[in-house]
Amino acid sequence: MASDVVTIDKVAALCRRRGFVYPSSDIYGGLGSSYDYGHYGVLLRQNIRGEWQRAMIQERDDMVALDSAIILNPQVWVASGHVAGFSDPLVDCRTCKLRFRADKLEDASCGKRPSKHPGETPQCDLTEPRQFNMMFDTHVGAVRDDASVAYLRPETAQGIFVNFKNVTSSLRVKPPFGIAQIGKSFRNEITPGNFIFRLREFEQMEMEFFVRPEDAEEWFRYWVEERRRWHVSLGLRESHVRLRPHEPDELAHYATAAVDVEYLFPIGWQELEGIAYRGDYDLRHHAEHSGTKLEWIGQDERYVPHVVEPAGGVDRFMLAFLCDAYDEEEISGRPRTVLRLHPRLAPVKVAVLPLIGKDAAMVERARALYEELRKTMSAEYDADAAIGKRYRRQDEIGTPWALTIDEQTLADATVTLRDRDTLEQDRIPLEGARELLLDKLGT
Ligand code: GAP
Repeated sequence: MASDVVTIDKVAALCRRRGFVYPSSDIYGGLGSSYDYGHYGVLLRQNIRGEWQRAMIQERDDMVALDSAIILNPQVWVASGHVAGFSDPLVDCRTCKLRFRADKLEDASCGKRPSKHPGETPQCDLTEPRQFNMMFDTHVGAVRDDASVAYLRPETAQGIFVNFKNVTSSLRVKPPFGIAQIGKSFRNEITPGNFIFRLREFEQMEMEFFVRPEDAEEWFRYWVEERRRWHVSLGLRESHVRLRPHEPDELAHYATAAVDVEYLFPIGWQELEGIAYRGDYDLRHHAEHSGTKLEWIGQDERYVPHVVEPAGGVDRFMLAFLCDAYDEEEISGRPRTVLRLHPRLAPVKVAVLPLIGKDAAMVERARALYEELRKTMSAEYDADAAIGKRYRRQDEIGTPWALTIDEQTLADATVTLRDRDTLEQDRIPLEGARELLLDKLGT
């Protein structure tokens, strides 16, 4: 279990040092709150998406997938209410010229350096709040005028609603059923920050579940619990996960009820995922604006389905999993940093290490084992440096197991299996090592 030593800065430093996350456009001084994902970050994110897809699509028979475009017909965002209402209240500070969200002023501080005169600290001198639309706009086609304006999607959800008719007429679905989608979304956030917690370009994992109106309340309760359970099943400590129903005045413009799954980040309790009851808001508005009927027509029934939506983000889940997994401890008087990631999420499942990196026979056996393992799981081969140092390298990226090839392997075809968390080392037969690991992974 991770100790309380974790801070966002420590996680960010490890991510940069070990190739998970880099500041974007680094050599040009970066771009505010924009990040690039390195090798281990890519693998971790693939696993987060994979586990979401497994739970939401693969292991269910009431769900289908979708991958809609990022730039949609701008009318979509008029109908959805985003052009008129997807805004945050913004205030300017006349002293430091920074901008803040009027509803999050407790996080803000004046950006001007304190005065040289003792006791004089600059105070923010704030303007009246005004609404700031968070959608990024662009132009489609060669002509840049009002008619060519389009938006980068601020949520993936609308791509699902506008495909409701396509999906119901081409696939064998009937309510209750869901459409799940993963993809990038863009918001011109006034105050992004806290590493990858709030970004302007981020990736969402959203699912719209279409149900009979009278069944919506029950499905809402079902999805709140289902999504809480998913986070805990992948290792988040139960004590760091809680459910928080929205107050009526904080509901988004489309929602009639919402519950956040919150995680206790080092910066406090924050939204990890939102589950919203959207009623028939979206299908009704798209039907009105497009002139296309969006309803369910059964044998002897016809209605506009209601929608329950669990919506999370890959980047924010990644930060929660990293914070929860981060630990520092001392072993035999030496410090070790370890990511206790759930094995299914770990970027690398197993490291194969020849005890003596220059011993040709050990190297040959280790390479052969590594090449067999990597066909079915993410594996890494490392023959450089002392064995203790190689274990530490793997601990830092969260690799749950290491297989070490030594003198005894050459004599009796057994290897040492080292466990990242217990540090126990077991002797196991080389033959069957792969099956043993697959079994531990539950695949
Ligand atoms: N379709 C509903 C919707 O988009 P949301 O609460 O605005 O709801 C859902 O976003 C999830 O997407 C959040 O819980 C969070 O995980 C992620 N998310 C939203 N804005 C984000 C941002 N600026 N940076 C990173 N992740 C974000």
